[in-house]
Amino acid sequence: MKQSFDKGFLTPHPVFIIAVYDENGNANAMNAAWAGQIGANQLSISLSSHKTTTNIKANKEFTVSFATKEYIEACDYVGMVSGSKVPDKLAKCGFTVTKSDKINAPVIDQLPVAIECKVIELQEEFDETRVVAEIVGMKADESVLTNDKVDLSKVHPIMFDTVAGCYREIGENVGGAWSAGKKFM
Ligand SMILES: Cc1cc2nc3c(=O)[nH]c(=O)nc-3n(C[C@H](O)[C@H](O)[C@H](O)COP(=O)(O)O)c2cc1C
Repeated sequence: MKQSFDKGFLTPHPVFIIAVYDENGNANAMNAAWAGQIGANQLSISLSSHKTTTNIKANKEFTVSFATKEYIEACDYVGMVSGSKVPDKLAKCGFTVTKSDKINAPVIDQLPVAIECKVIELQEEFDETRVVAEIVGMKADESVLTNDKVDLSKVHPIMFDTVAGCYREIGENVGGAWSAGKKFM
């Protein structure tokens, strides 16, 4: 028998590391799990008041890297401290950056996949800023490619478990999309 609850949740939450330059050209990054893809080329992120939020409003360009199992401590750390209090936040956790050749935003060298984004819309709702951005490019390490495509089995992206308050590794390929269901056709 199913139990009834007053509140629910969605899963999986992605773990994105959002990297952006401040007004002096210094790179900062934060962890964001309240985010998702809209259609083929856009994404939406719900941001509270952070240094990253201020920087995105000013700079309008940023990258989103997938947090990985290998860098779980650094990915968590950038979600625990603010760049406004710890200016060398990225250096402290071993992250270095290279400026994207497409947009004015830092690409985190250690994380294998980064999506390059340009802000389309900023919506202020209650205490949140909803950022809607267009995906204009992607950087991916050769080490995570198979036949010139990003191979998630090599990336080891993690998800955020909001119930247990932990990160989980995204697992195996368990069946083809638009394919596994053919069993019933
Ligand atoms: C797992 C996790 C998920 C988070 N998701 C979000 C989010 O979706 N939106 C948000 O505004 N803050 C989120 N945060 C909090 C920010 O990452 C955190 O406040 C960060 O220190 C802000 O850094 P900044 O001030 O340098 O920009 C999350 C933190 C963690 C650890």
